[in-house]
Amino acid sequence: MTTHKTRIAVFCSGGGSNFKSIYRAIAEKPLDAEILLCLSNRSQCGAMEFASQNGIATVHITEKQFSSFEEFAAAMVQYLKDAQIDIVLLAGYMRKVPDAVVAAFPDKMLNIHPALLPKFGGEGMYGMFVHRAVLEAGEKESGATVHFVNEEYDKGKILLQKRVPVLPGDTPESLAARVLECEHALYPDALEKLLTMQNS
Ligand code: GRF
Repeated sequence: MTTHKTRIAVFCSGGGSNFKSIYRAIAEKPLDAEILLCLSNRSQCGAMEFASQNGIATVHITEKQFSSFEEFAAAMVQYLKDAQIDIVLLAGYMRKVPDAVVAAFPDKMLNIHPALLPKFGGEGMYGMFVHRAVLEAGEKESGATVHFVNEEYDKGKILLQKRVPVLPGDTPESLAARVLECEHALYPDALEKLLTMQNS
């Protein structure tokens, strides 16, 4: 049971549309949470820009800034500890999160994947690779999955899924757009579910 607002860090690498949908949901719904930190491997991207514009602290951190992977992972953990982060949400973060960081947030780190896991997940399954594979497999539906993060790509326990149809004539791009829209509804719902689970 948390007695304070749940403190969230969001990890991003790109446009940050999921980050924005979570931010808006927190502003609009009675979610007892706040986003305190945006962490990215890219100093400039839509997500980092949005964070700065909305008074959210940003951290640009990459392995290259450190002499070893262990130091990089330890620094990441330290940033999260310093900001007293309770929950980490991966939203288009295009790097594998170091195991030490995952271990520091057991059952408190979520990721969103643009397909119905366990299908179409794993290393190399990201972005258009996913949607192309779904179309090539002749699937009748796709969707998005929010899952807990563990040490293996896309293998953590599933928290919530949402389905969309695959339509005749779909291209990877048209399917990606439909799935992304579904992600924007799903991630806030998954966050709400996690917050409820934590407080029960
Ligand atoms: C989303 O499709 C998400 O599923 C995947 O990366 C994309 C991020 O998009 N992990 P955005 O940066 O949230 O717009």
